[in-house]
Formats: sequence, structure tokens, C-alpha cells
Amino acid sequence: MKTQFGKPMREHFLFSSSWVNMNHGSFGAIPKNHSLIPNATSGIDTILRNLDYTTREHMVCFNTVYGAAERTMLHLAEKTGVNVTRIPLAYPLSDSEILHRLYTTVAGIRDKGEDVKVVVFDTIAFEPGVRMPFENLIAACRKLGILSCVDGAHCVGQILIDLSDLEPHLFVSNLHK
Ligand SMILES: Cc1ncc(COP(=O)(O)O)c(C=O)c1O
Repeated sequence: MKTQFGKPMREHFLFSSSWVNMNHGSFGAIPKNHSLIPNATSGIDTILRNLDYTTREHMVCFNTVYGAAERTMLHLAEKTGVNVTRIPLAYPLSDSEILHRLYTTVAGIRDKGEDVKVVVFDTIAFEPGVRMPFENLIAACRKLGILSCVDGAHCVGQILIDLSDLEPHLFVSNLHK
């Protein structure tokens, strides 16, 4: 739902209801549930480094994941012993097949008595440049009780995103693509 400019916007910021904020520009107003980040890479990196992992947990991604995000996952695997599970995708491929592969991968991990901490996926993959079925992947993660971490680089200006409707656990984007 859209919020009108002016006083109604105050509910989205960390202000007391009695506070009259005079200057966002110089001193910054911190939005609720949002953080400003230098770029998508550092956003994903910060999120993934701030989760706790065990050696019986997995970080799941597709093999189309952006290289920097994968490097963070591999680094965390070395540091914490968390497992990195890459789901192979070879195009052409239907969205429903991508969903199916996520479900079967998670089921396979759970069958071994292990679990998935987070699934990292893109709105638009970098290589090949395809739109991922991120809306359904977010919903699947919710259903499975797993954190979704969406790399939304490239999507601003190309895909209309309503985060309050999609409700990803974690979503990162940039404005320079
Ligand atoms: C899917 C994806 N994620 C992240 C990035 C990196 O974005 P940034 O430059 O904001 O760190 C790119 C860059 O092309 C990308 O394609």
C-alpha cells in the first residue's frame, strides 16, 4: 500500500510520534527495516556474515549466483564449517523446474538430518541475464521455514517490486545498474 508524502510517512521511520523532523538531508532519518548500503555486494556480504552457522547447516544458492556472493559463502564455509550447496541450472529451463529443484534440494538435505539456513538467489541473474522466479522462491522459502536472501541487483527500474507484498526475509539492491 502506498503512503502519502508528509506526516503519514513518519510511521516508516524511527521517530517518536511526537517528533517533528526538520532535516532528513543533513543528518539522515533511519527508515524502519531498511539500511543504506554502498552496493549490493557489500549488502549480501554483511547479511551472510551476520548469520550464525553450524556444520550441519547449508547455504543454498543456484550456480548462476553472482561471483562475489559465492565468494562470501565459500569464505564462511571455510571459517564456520557451514556447507555451501549449489543447485545446477542449465538453460533453457522453466520457472517451475527451478522451484522444483529448490524443493528437492532442501528435502535431500533434510533427509540427511541437516538443514538449510538461507537460500541466496537473484531477481535477475548476471549470467545468463535471466529473470529468476524470485517471487515464488521467496514464497517457497517461507513455506519451508528458511531465510530468503534476495540479490536484487539490476531489478530497480526493470521490475516493479513491492517488498511489503513479497515479504522476503532479506533483500538487497542497488541503483546503478
Ligand atoms: C546479480 C548481481 N549481484 C550483484 C552485483 C554487484 O552489484 P554491486 O555493484 O552493487 O555490488 C551484480 C553486478 O553485476 C550482479 O549482477
